[in-house]
Amino acid sequence: MAEAKWHRLGPVEQFVGRSLRQIEIGNLAIALTYRDGTFAAISGRCNHVGGPLGNGTLSDDGFVVCPWHSWQFHRLTGEARPGIPAAVPRHEVKIEDGSLWVDLTPATKRVHAPHPAHALSRPIQREPGPLRVVGIATSAMSRQFPRYSTSEAMLQLALDHAKERAAISKLIRLNDLSFKHCEGYYSKSAQACTWPCTITQMDPSDQLDQVYEAIVFWADVVLIATSIRWGAPSALYFKMIERMNCIQNQITIHDNVLIRNKVAGFIITGGQDNVQAVAGQMMLFFGELGFQFPQFPFVAHSRGWSAEDMENNVAQVQESRELHEGTKALADRCLAAAAQLVAAGAGCTSVPRGGRKAHRQP
Ligand code: FES
Repeated sequence: MAEAKWHRLGPVEQFVGRSLRQIEIGNLAIALTYRDGTFAAISGRCNHVGGPLGNGTLSDDGFVVCPWHSWQFHRLTGEARPGIPAAVPRHEVKIEDGSLWVDLTPATKRVHAPHPAHALSRPIQREPGPLRVVGIATSAMSRQFPRYSTSEAMLQLALDHAKERAAISKLIRLNDLSFKHCEGYYSKSAQACTWPCTITQMDPSDQLDQVYEAIVFWADVVLIATSIRWGAPSALYFKMIERMNCIQNQITIHDNVLIRNKVAGFIITGGQDNVQAVAGQMMLFFGELGFQFPQFPFVAHSRGWSAEDMENNVAQVQESRELHEGTKALADRCLAAAAQLVAAGAGCTSVPRGGRKAHRQP
């Protein structure tokens, strides 16, 4: 049995005021609890991805609830809820001469419950074969009575054209998927935002895994189609990219670049204006993920600020030869750029934190 290393925390009365607190002693984190006149201590590092247990909450039945993703460990034993074979280390505490002491040597061991790895955590490797293009349509509409979406129609045109160029293509309509809004784990801590996405890992019914599979693993070219909504991309586009924070965050916290040798292009249509602002923010985000762009990375259609006759817009898009040719040309440019990147292989080097933030993570 390892030797005890008693550490004086301080006068007892200093610790009776709060039921749960996190205490850092060098590299050791302790979640100290006080309830019904007794102190107890367990590790302050959660089994999941290291969340600070002592900054969480204490349930009525004595479980310390992690503040990051709500895993739970009993304050007296360190054990997870019954049925989950996991535990964080427990530490002895004692009161001597009016002071509270904790034994830095854990009395029990950390036990990880066996968790099958999520499919999205597998190594990223491009499967051999022809170029692959995924189109993501982001327009929202009634599922029961879908309308004609000009951006989706142009996207389909681009995908069909890519097929004619011997690529494989597929369409994902965000409107057909059921997926949650980002729940803001990054706002708790960069480390709490995980890859695969925390929601994807915890909720098998969430369907954004189809988008992750397509853009991280499958596609060489990602074409995003959006309508313009009050000068911005569509609401579903934003719902999707908030959930993609986990891809970008891997660069920040692990220098883990998930997107390599891939090209993004954008199709933007709206009755009124602000194409530049929509394209600008889409390019910024996809650039931050690690995508490359062809020369002239978007095609757009807009009829100007005073065009309120939206009932004429669909016909104009359907009849616009220039827009159709421009859309096909965008697909060609994306395929040409992707062909070069794929031929070059994974030559891209890792740049700490994407090379764009001139400071270190604490
Ligand atoms: S639940 Fe504790 S780190 Fe995720």
